[in-house]
This record gives sequence, C-alpha cells and structure tokens, in this order.
Amino acid sequence: MLPFLTSARLDFRHWTEADLPLAFSLWGDPEVAFYLGGVLTLDATRDKLQVEMDRQQRFGVQYWPIFHRSTGKFAGCCGLRPFRNEPRVFELGVHIARAFWSQRFGEEAARAVIGYAFDQLQLDALTAGHNPGNAHSKALIARLGFTYTHMQPWGPLNLDHPFYRLERPNPASA
Ligand SMILES: CC(C)(COP(=O)(O)OP(=O)(O)OC[C@H]1O[C@@H](n2cnc3c(N)ncnc32)[C@H](O)[C@@H]1OP(=O)(O)O)[C@@H](O)C(=O)NCCC(=O)NCCS
Repeated sequence: MLPFLTSARLDFRHWTEADLPLAFSLWGDPEVAFYLGGVLTLDATRDKLQVEMDRQQRFGVQYWPIFHRSTGKFAGCCGLRPFRNEPRVFELGVHIARAFWSQRFGEEAARAVIGYAFDQLQLDALTAGHNPGNAHSKALIARLGFTYTHMQPWGPLNLDHPFYRLERPNPASA
C-alpha cells in the first residue's frame, strides 16, 4: 500500500483488518499504554481497530499507522479524531512504539499530521490532551505550539486531562 502522507523518516498509511497483530503490539504493550488508560486485550484491540477504520470511512481521519521508511518497521500511529461537536476541529494523537522512543518520532509524526490537517483537510483548529503525569507528552504538545485551554475527562478511567488548542495559521502571517 502506498503511503498517503510522508515525513523525513516515516510513511503513513491506513489501517486494515490484517493489521491486528501490529495494532496489538502497540496497544497491548504496557509501556506504551501506561498513560493511555492501560493495555488492551486482543479483543479490545480488534474493536479499536474497527473504530479507527470506521472513522476513516465517516470522517476521513484516523490514528494512522506509521512505518519507519528505511527499515519498513511499524513505528506506531499518529493522526486525528473528531473532537466534541466542532466539525472543523479534530483531536491530534500520537502513540509511538517502544523501539522508536527517544528519537523524536512523535514530534516528526505530529508535525506531518498538523500539516495535513491544515493544508489538505483545511481544518480550523486542532486540540490535544495528555495524561497529567505524562511529562514527555506535555513537552511535545508545547513544542508543537499548542496553547492550554481547559481540563476535560478522558479515557477509560475518565481522568481529568489538560487540553490544548492550535489554530490554523493565518496565511497573511505565515
Ligand atoms: C510521548 C511521545 C508522544 C513523545 O514523543 P516525542 O516528543 O517525539 O519524544 P520521544 O519519543 O523522543 O521520547 C521523549 C522521551 O519520552 C520518553 N517516553 C515516551 N513515552 C513514555 C512512556 N509512556 N513512559 C515513560 N517514558 C516515555 C522516552 O523514553 C524519551 O525519554 P528520553 O528523552 O529521556 O530518552 C511518544 O514517546 C509516545 O508516543 N509515547 C507512548 C504513548 C504516549 O504516551 N503517547 C502520548 C499520549 S497523550
């Protein structure tokens, strides 16, 4: 499958049902899932994969699977999902596989998705949140230029998460 989006080191494509083992290697990994509400079982991973594929059909977005171009290895996922009832505002998320931590792949993937969101999808704004204990995610959201907006319950435990917003750049000031 050809990538629909690329960055310097990564290729983005769409999830298929055949990707269940890849998805489970990510969402079933206790280290990756630590701040995401805990590991998923294989059955829960199958359900989540279906949700992602349905979102692509309905909204044209999902947390797209990403691949390290030079090795072809699965590196995690990064993408968008609907946010509240604002049709032109989506939530950005990134889940990098353990083997690819500490090389700023999260930042690289997120920057590619931000470009796609504003240039291709013409969205008005993006939101992003993080587990209050996830300092690395907080730092990434700050580096990407998001501004704090509010606290909001998130995830299976309904734990309050800080949320941030990034407006579409004004072409006149770009
Ligand atoms: C958090 C994350 C998005 C940061 O991406 P990034 O800014 O590109 O940063 P890097 O991957 O280079 O990692 C930065 C640091 O975070 C650490 N880190 C990342 N996720 C971690 C986790 N779940 N638990 C503990 N440490 C973690 C890395 O080990 C690294 O530490 P180092 O700089 O001391 O080597 C990415 O590492 C990731 O996807 N982690 C797992 C899933 C997750 O927590 N996503 C965020 C959801 S809100």
